[in-house]
Amino acid sequence: MLTPQEEKAIHMKDTSELAVVTGAFSYTGKYLTRRLLNAGTRVRTLTGHPNRAHEFGDRVEVAPLNFKNPEELVRSLRGASVLYNSYWVRFNYGESTFAAAIANSRILIQAAREAGVRRIVHLSIANPSLDSPLPYYSGKAQVEKAIADSGLSYAILRPTVIFGPEDILMNNIAWFVRRFPIFAIPGLGRYLLQPIFVEDIAELAANAGANNENLVVDAVGPEVFTFEELARQIAAAIRATPSFVHVHPGLAFRFLQLLGPILGDVILTREEIEGLMAGLLVSRQSASGQTRFTEWLAKFAATLGARYTSELTRHYR
Ligand SMILES: NC(=O)c1ccc[n+]([C@@H]2O[C@H](COP(=O)([O-])OP(=O)(O)OC[C@H]3O[C@@H](n4cnc5c(N)ncnc54)[C@H](OP(=O)(O)O)[C@@H]3O)[C@@H](O)[C@H]2O)c1
Repeated sequence: MLTPQEEKAIHMKDTSELAVVTGAFSYTGKYLTRRLLNAGTRVRTLTGHPNRAHEFGDRVEVAPLNFKNPEELVRSLRGASVLYNSYWVRFNYGESTFAAAIANSRILIQAAREAGVRRIVHLSIANPSLDSPLPYYSGKAQVEKAIADSGLSYAILRPTVIFGPEDILMNNIAWFVRRFPIFAIPGLGRYLLQPIFVEDIAELAANAGANNENLVVDAVGPEVFTFEELARQIAAAIRATPSFVHVHPGLAFRFLQLLGPILGDVILTREEIEGLMAGLLVSRQSASGQTRFTEWLAKFAATLGARYTSELTRHYR
């Protein structure tokens, strides 16, 4: 026989809104999931890493992010009012390619339609373009189009670089400046970045899920840096004193390509360096996140870059 409290808990569980979040045990999805749970929303995650350590105990239902089984995806999405989609790949690696990620995203969107999901909140990238020569950006634009054409209500958030304790780019810049006497800046280093804090984008996403109107908006923080300023800020915060040298982007890529296997990672791809240098990580819209990178950096300087963060370890092992 259940106690009145247990009956109440079951009743609340059944009636509260259900959200499906891809990657609740990964980076941005984790911060979003925290917010949704705190707001009383039930969360089911779709993930390829159900056994990854996480903080949510049994408060998050787990289902496979398996694009080879669309019927299973439909079942996992049934009953959800919002799908928060963070799924994407950073680069082509084995079978995990941009072309596959576009096809998989279409499968996920179609599954959401079939399951009767009301709205998709989708994490894209700032400055996507169907015409972009960079497959990350053209692929993101194709997925945005698929969402806009789906007939579902949608919010598309376009972040630049998302900083936070689990971020890869800022952390690994810090890792390099901690360990090496020289920090190589591809080209002149004047290309801009406008990072957004992971808590801020999680808040934007959670708020976007609660609305109905279609929305496409950049998700960017209040500060803009050149790449060189950013690297120098990070070095100063952790009291590292490397020499900053400007190198040909091809040489920087070659160096990272040689170091990658030693670290067991793909550190940065040629396309990512090109994207960085093309000034795509900055917005023309006003800031939607409030947290200043420099203030966050001052707080986290002691641990930033203490350990290298590997994309391959996170997603392929
Ligand atoms: N991080 C940034 O600085 C940044 C900047 C601009 C845009 N974005 C966009 O924001 C979204 C969230 O980024 P994030 O860094 O927070 O992502 P993430 O948590 O590392 O991954 C998000 C989701 O994608 C899945 N995924 C990632 N790589 C995969 C792969 N190679 N094969 C299969 N599944 C893969 C993850 O699967 P698991 O659940 O199995 O881990 C997870 O469900 C992405 O769409 C990204 O493109 C991120």
